[in-house]
Amino acid sequence: MVRVDRGGAARAGGLGALIFILAAPGAFAASVRVVEGESMRVVSGSVVRAQEAVGGRAARLPANGVATARFTSDNVGSVVVRARALGCRGRRRLTIVVDGGTPYRVKPRGSWREQRVALTLAAGAHRIRVSFSGSERRRCRVLVDRVRLPAPKGKPVATPAPVAPAAPASPLGRYVPLGAAVQLKYIKQDAGFDDAFKREFVSMTPENEMKMEWLQPERGRWNFTAADALVAHARAYGKDVRGHALIFGTATPPWVKRILLSHDAAAAMRTHIHTVMRRYRDSVREWDVVNEALGSGGTYRSNAWTEKLGSQYVEMAFRYAREADPTAKLVYNEFDADTAGPKRDATAGLVRKLKDKGLVDAVGLQMHRSLADAPTREQLEETMRIYEQMGVEVQVTEMDVLAGGAGSLTDRLIIQAEAYRRAAQACAAVAACTRFTVWGVTDRYSWMGVDQLPLLLDAGGAEKPALAAVREVLGG
Ligand code: G3I
Repeated sequence: MVRVDRGGAARAGGLGALIFILAAPGAFAASVRVVEGESMRVVSGSVVRAQEAVGGRAARLPANGVATARFTSDNVGSVVVRARALGCRGRRRLTIVVDGGTPYRVKPRGSWREQRVALTLAAGAHRIRVSFSGSERRRCRVLVDRVRLPAPKGKPVATPAPVAPAAPASPLGRYVPLGAAVQLKYIKQDAGFDDAFKREFVSMTPENEMKMEWLQPERGRWNFTAADALVAHARAYGKDVRGHALIFGTATPPWVKRILLSHDAAAAMRTHIHTVMRRYRDSVREWDVVNEALGSGGTYRSNAWTEKLGSQYVEMAFRYAREADPTAKLVYNEFDADTAGPKRDATAGLVRKLKDKGLVDAVGLQMHRSLADAPTREQLEETMRIYEQMGVEVQVTEMDVLAGGAGSLTDRLIIQAEAYRRAAQACAAVAACTRFTVWGVTDRYSWMGVDQLPLLLDAGGAEKPALAAVREVLGG
């Protein structure tokens, strides 16, 4: 068990944090003692007696062990983890990640020590994850017995926010962030929507605001206002941002078609990719570099870029992206490529070609589906393993499942939940699957229309069976 302690916070001048008890999963299920209604969920690891630990129990994190918790806070100035390393001689590292953002790394010692990392969290729901890695000896492990979230000194004590429902335990044993596409206008106009996003998701994909037609509507005339605001909002709440999408045929501004010479089109593409990636280098570490290059038969779709540069535009875009930000994760994002067929073959062929040249890190499977055509777990797992064997990560990047129509609403929502569950189970089963993103926060603002009920939260922001199903698999 990892205790989340409030005593230290009181000494530091206040704490606006609540963390919720969750039973440790599966084989690691143990009698987790509630300490002031707060605890961390041990996703991977076991609960052991530790004489030194306050309260007599601590979470033992073997290499790759993870503990997670959700909390709501108005006022946090640092995270303090009390930890100790046992049996370690060489490299050892605790990584603390709040809301899927910047990882903080500390080195646990042989005796109990408090490891502090400074951070500032805005009001709202957050998620914290503590993991241990780097052991060169099998017996090397780390004990963690307390995590405190003190407020900055001198700041007023914040009122704790209402306790959110505890999430079910995950059988996954590893962390797959759950993300959603978001449009700035809905954040601005609907506080309930924004709350739902902040509460339920740890990463965000700008639904439209980073598309080329938005960022550079005329050549050399840039408009970063909406993208800047959305990225700043996400980062203020500790959310990861997936950049979407640098080069996307149908979101290309008309001026590209007016370019006469191919070398000029290449220069325009390079300038666009460099300018955008470098602007967001500190906050966006993952990009859909090319979106939907292929049609249903697996041939290239024609667009302004194929007109000027031919199908090699895809590889050119990835080259420019690698140049612009060599450490960013570069993703090829495609629709209808999650089940067997010519489209999947063509997508895998393209990704392999890019991978052989060191240009791609991940493939995105969009998964816009309906109740009738959502894939089975086996179908999706088979697809994901193609990429795993290639040494490429895979993500679900835009899932929604249309559930509008006749028949019982309850039945439709249950069938929908099972479609989401199968996708989450496939992702859970394949280690190369590193993120699960749905295409919107609530049904109200889905691009498919509210009547299609395609997302994890209903129009009012309440949890649907689909969210419970995804959480049961992925945790959180
Ligand atoms: O914001 C303007 C508004 O000012 C204007 O009055 C109105 C008039 O039509 O248009 C509004 O812009 C719309 C925009 O969404 C914002 O809502 C565009 O017309 C509309 O075409 C645009 O649709 C987006 C679509 O991509 C096209 O880029 C959807 O929201 C977005 O969900 C969808 O997302 C795509 C992914 O990028 C790639 N994969 C497929 C996915 C679904 O099509």
